[in-house]
Amino acid sequence: MARVFVTRQLPGSALDRLSTEHEVEIWLEQLPPSRDELLARAPQLEGLLSLLTDPVDAEFMEAAPGLRAISNYAVGTDNVDLEAASARSIPVGSTPGVLTESTADLAFALMLALARHLIEGDAYVRRGEWRTWEPGLLLGRDLHGATVGIVGFGRIGQAVARRLEGFDCEVLSADIDGDVPLEELLERSDFVTVHCPLTPETRGLIGDEALRRMKPTAYLVNTSRGPVVDTEALARALHAGEIAGAALDVTDPEPLPGDHPLLDAPGILVLPHIASATHATRERMADMAVDNLLAGLAGKPMPNQAN
Ligand code: DGY
Repeated sequence: MARVFVTRQLPGSALDRLSTEHEVEIWLEQLPPSRDELLARAPQLEGLLSLLTDPVDAEFMEAAPGLRAISNYAVGTDNVDLEAASARSIPVGSTPGVLTESTADLAFALMLALARHLIEGDAYVRRGEWRTWEPGLLLGRDLHGATVGIVGFGRIGQAVARRLEGFDCEVLSADIDGDVPLEELLERSDFVTVHCPLTPETRGLIGDEALRRMKPTAYLVNTSRGPVVDTEALARALHAGEIAGAALDVTDPEPLPGDHPLLDAPGILVLPHIASATHATRERMADMAVDNLLAGLAGKPMPNQAN
């Protein structure tokens, strides 16, 4: 039996499986354990099931000499120092694949919500302003037939592209060194949707220069990681009318405070990082995370190892 810390309760019954094999402590609060709480547990830990809100860095690993396996409940692993883990031969698990379609669904929903003013329309009705049918009310832009630029053409980017086929869109895709140069994608797209991981190369990728290249009628969607888009540059671009709107499921900082200046920018829609938040997906993620941890603690290869 290994001593395992799980940094939040997870949907479904996967943690029951973990608890039958190991001595498991689950952090039951709504907010993540503080740094001090994590470090206080480190010396006893053999297994860790972390969330994207937990920085699992070299200092933490240093404080956890018995740590044998880390399983991150996310496809992104930017909160885990993979090099530090590899240097200590600690396998790190992640949950790729299982959230691809749910995340693509949400990116698609955000494109439609922006272009067809769904949030504004709902607010208009609730304010009691709907008095008649009007020819010029809340005119938006079509997603069908539009040119959509996908930045980061991995699993999720490709799942978005499949959906766009049904909408007769022209899809342009760019990876860091992909076939359509990013500059061209930005200049030609009616919608730009971001699906790359957060790395030193992608941090701030969509900044002042990128935003200035976009059409003033274009929309930006980010469901990847907040820091891929420069928050200040985005607020500036929206105020200046350099782009028509932006929908973010991820932000920098995260969480975005309710009084953050970005929320005053015109055409901004922000969600609290919920792209994978369906019952089925979050339960499958829990199963995968537990499978990774069980394998790692048993000294077997993790089914989905990130390092
Ligand atoms: C991930 O898995 O990286 C998402 O951001 C949350 O599901």
